[in-house]
Amino acid sequence: MQDLGKVDEIVKSYKETKTPLIYILKDVQKEFGCLSDKILTRVAKTTKIPLSEIYGVATFYSLFTTVKKGKYIIRCCNNAPCHVKGSKEVLDRIKEYLGLEMNETTPDNLFTLEFTSCLGLCAVAPVMMINDEVYGNLTPEKAVAILKDYKMKGQANA
Ligand code: FES
Repeated sequence: MQDLGKVDEIVKSYKETKTPLIYILKDVQKEFGCLSDKILTRVAKTTKIPLSEIYGVATFYSLFTTVKKGKYIIRCCNNAPCHVKGSKEVLDRIKEYLGLEMNETTPDNLFTLEFTSCLGLCAVAPVMMINDEVYGNLTPEKAVAILKDYKMKGQANA
């Protein structure tokens, strides 16, 4: 059960700020992991900003998400240089290992799978990022070995 009172606390902390909505949404997302309908409705109620305006901001900026993502966000590059070096095979193996399609999250909330545009690391293609870490020269086997490490780490810290 989410404690939506936290939303009110965050809103209150920005009462002296001139245009607080982005700051509020950023903090609320950090607290709850996403900006769900229920959370945005509470933000609207507390700030007295129209819900339509809040939705507009929450869906415009890529830093906001309305769906909960996993603890580890895997971003696979599939631009031409990575593609030529086998990113599709790597991605297919990741999907198979995690049982995911693109933009899905594992039921244990550990992994979300997304595409990324070129990371500027084409020299070590194919490339993926997991949160802030970059992994290059991937093979399907290497990618799965990396994910196994994250899985162990994630389950140990659960
Ligand atoms: S195309 Fe993948 S890192 Fe540049």
